Formats: sequence, structure tokens, C-alpha cells
Amino acid sequence: MQKLIIIAAIVGFFGFFLALGAGYAYTWYDYETMREQPIAFDHKIHAGQLGVPCSDCHNAAAISRQATMPAVQKCASCHKAIQVRLEELIEFEIEKIEAEKEKIASDFADGKITAAERDNKLVKKDRELARKDRELDPVRRKNLQKIKEHVDKQEPIAWVRVHALPSHVYFSHKPHIKQNIECTTCHGRVEWMGIARQVAPLTMGWCVSCHKSRNAPHDCTTCHQ
Ligand code: HEC
Ligand code: HEC
Ligand code: HEC
Ligand code: HEC
Ligand code: HEC
Repeated sequence: MQKLIIIAAIVGFFGFFLALGAGYAYTWYDYETMREQPIAFDHKIHAGQLGVPCSDCHNAAAISRQATMPAVQKCASCHKAIQVRLEELIEFEIEKIEAEKEKIASDFADGKITAAERDNKLVKKDRELARKDRELDPVRRKNLQKIKEHVDKQEPIAWVRVHALPSHVYFSHKPHIKQNIECTTCHGRVEWMGIARQVAPLTMGWCVSCHKSRNAPHDCTTCHQ
């Protein structure tokens, strides 16, 4: 009987921490999960390496509730000009090589070249093709093609929302930006993120504790109107 109690105590002791850990992991995981986006947009490249300012793309943060998403024309301003053209150029070269392969086959059919000559030439062309294909990494190609389609159709990209407060909460970016609160204070180092994710809990306690510390209004109607 005594043994049983000791075992129960031990199991209970570790079980408690296990449950605590699981609970913590769950809540942590919950808001930091990354959401798959329709196009693999990368803040690390754009806001980090290229140094495009946040406000260039989320340009309403200072003047309205929403920070807003950039129009697809914004993406096109760089991508249509540089990459899609590069893409088209490579595709054009691939078509040219394919045509050359057909010419080699027809030259053989017409008896202009021998079978050995034909095989030799085809091997070379296939190597050229493989090189061009490698330049068109399939993932990259798919992403750039998607941008082009959206631009051509003038159709906005349906980004998946990462942050979403419940509808009974009133939040606006404007007063916060006006107080010179940096984007990083609430969003972390987005310029280091491959995929944008939520880093602050966005709970009532989180909002209220900052409001109290900065003497911002914190009566209920500030955030619940
Ligand atoms: C070249 C344009 C561009 C720049 C520059 C940029 N972003 Fe973004 N941002 C996007 C796009 C597109 C999305 C939607 C895709 C995604 O969530 O990754 C996004 C998503 C976000 C999200 C998640 C929004 C949500 O759904 O809740 C946050 C937060 C964010 N950006 C903050 C920033 C901050 C902070 C900076 C500056 C360090 C920045 N962004 C710079 C284009 C940009
Ligand atoms: C005081 C905290 C705070 C600051 C500072 C802040 N944000 Fe936000 N941001 C939020 C919250 C909270 C949400 C979710 C709003 C909602 O769900 O209605 C959000 C949502 C967003 C979104 C997605 C929805 C939208 O509004 O378009 C983007 C993009 C974004 N923020 C970008 C930025 C950028 C860029 C900056 C800096 C210029 C910035 N934020 C500064 C708290 C903040
Ligand atoms: C200031 C110019 C600029 C703007 C604006 C811009 N991009 Fe980019 N983007 C680049 C450059 C430069 C690269 C990196 C090129 C490379 O390495 O191939 C890149 C890379 C990418 C990639 C990765 C492609 C790859 O090589 O794997 C995607 C996807 C992408 N951008 C999507 C977008 C989307 C979506 C938008 C609009 C919200 C956007 N970009 C706006 C310049 C820009
Ligand atoms: C990092 C600190 C900080 C955080 C986090 C923060 N706020 Fe604020 N908030 C402020 C400051 C500072 C002001 C400006 C008060 C002023 O204009 O005097 C403000 C102003 C506001 C206002 C306008 C108040 C008014 O009547 O002028 C609203 C609404 C608001 N915040 C809601 C929220 C909500 C909702 C959240 C959480 C999702 C939040 N805030 C998170 C610091 C913060
Ligand atoms: C600075 C902003 C802010 C202030 C001030 C504020 N709240 Fe909230 N409140 C929030 C946010 C954000 C949420 C949603 C996130 C959450 O549930 O924690 C919320 C959620 C709630 C909820 C729903 C909780 C749930 O579980 O769904 C209630 C009820 C509530 N608040 C009541 C109040 C009351 C009463 C006051 C005044 C004493 C107050 N709030 C003041 C930001 C605020």
C-alpha cells in the first residue's frame, strides 16, 4: 500500500510538469505557428537584404487602423521588370534549343548527317537544356509565375492573415505609430523572418500592461467600443 502511494506521488509529480510543459508548448505553438502563404514571400530578402522600408509595403500603418498589404503592382514594380523578364529570356532560350533538336532530327531524316553525328549533337543539346532548366529552379519559377499571373489579371494576392484580434477588440496602428512605437515592439524582427509569424501574445494583459506603463488610456471603452 505504501509503495503504491509513493508510485502515485512520483507519477503525479512528473505528470504535473508534463502537463504544464504540454500546456505551455500548446499556447506557444498556437500563436507562433507559421502559416503557409499563397506565394513564398520572404521578409528576410525584401526588408532585410534589400532594405525596403516596412512603410513602403505596409504604407497605411501611420494613418489608419490597418497597416495594409502591398498591392500586387508593388511586387511587379521590381519583379516584372527584372525577374519575369529573365524568366522569359530563359524560356525563350529553351525553346530555341528544342527547335535546334528538331532540326538535328530532320537533318538526319533528310540524310544530311549520320546517326553518330546526330547522337553526338543531341547529347550536347540535352546538356545545354539541363543547364537552362537548372537556372529555372522549379520553386522559384512557380512563385514568379504566380506573381506574373496576378499582375496580368490585376488580381490581388490572397495573403493568409497571421495576426487577427477578435472582432470585439478595437485596435488601430495610427496612435501607436504616432507615439513612435517601433514595428519591432509588437511584431519582432520581421526583417529576419523567412515567413512572417506572430511573436507577441496579443492578449488583453499584453495590451493593458503597456498602456499602464506608458500612461495610455486603459478604461474598457478604449479597446471595446
Ligand atoms: C516588399 C514588401 C514588404 C516589405 C518591405 C515588408 N513587408 Fe511585411 N508583408 C508583406 C507581404 C506581401 C506580407 C503577406 C505575406 C506574409 O504574411 O508573409 C507581409 C506580412 C507582414 C506581417 C503579417 C501580417 C498579418 O497577416 O498579420 C507583418 C506583421 C509584417 N508584414 C510586418 C512587416 C514589417 C515590420 C516590415 C519591416 C521590417 C515589413 N513587414 C516589410 C510585404 C512586405
Ligand atoms: C502596438 C503594437 C503594434 C505596433 C507598434 C505595430 N503593430 Fe502591426 N499589428 C498589431 C496588432 C495588434 C495587429 C492585429 C490587428 C487586428 O487583428 O486587427 C497588427 C497587424 C498588422 C498587420 C496585418 C493586418 C493589417 O493591419 O494590415 C500588418 C501588415 C502590420 N501589423 C504591420 C505593422 C507595421 C509595418 C508596423 C510598423 C510601422 C506595425 N505593424 C506596428 C500591433 C502593432
Ligand atoms: C524593391 C524591389 C522588390 C519588391 C518591391 C518586391 N521584390 Fe520580391 N524580390 C526582389 C529581389 C531583388 C529578390 C531576390 C532575387 C533573387 O535572388 O532571385 C526578390 C525575391 C522574391 C521571391 C523569391 C524568389 C526566389 O528567388 O526564390 C519572391 C517569391 C518574391 N520576391 C515575391 C515578392 C512579392 C510577392 C512582392 C510584393 C509583395 C515582392 N516580391 C516585392 C525585389 C523586390
Ligand atoms: C508597446 C506599448 C503598447 C502596446 C503593446 C499596445 N498599446 Fe495601445 N497605445 C499605446 C500608446 C502609447 C498609445 C497612445 C496613447 C496616446 O495617444 O496618448 C496607445 C493608444 C491606443 C489606442 C487609442 C487610444 C485613444 O483613445 O487615443 C487604442 C484603441 C489602443 N492603443 C489599443 C491597443 C490594443 C487593443 C492593444 C493590444 C492588441 C494595444 N493597444 C497594445 C501603447 C501600446
Ligand atoms: C488596451 C486594450 C484593452 C483594454 C483597455 C481592455 N481590454 Fe478587454 N480585451 C483586449 C483584447 C486585446 C482582448 C482579446 C484578447 C484576449 O482575449 O485576451 C480582450 C478581451 C476581453 C474580453 C473577452 C475575453 C474572452 O475570453 O473572450 C472581455 C470580457 C474583456 N476584454 C473585458 C474588458 C474589460 C471589462 C475591460 C475594462 C476593465 C477591458 N476589457 C479593457 C484589450 C483590452
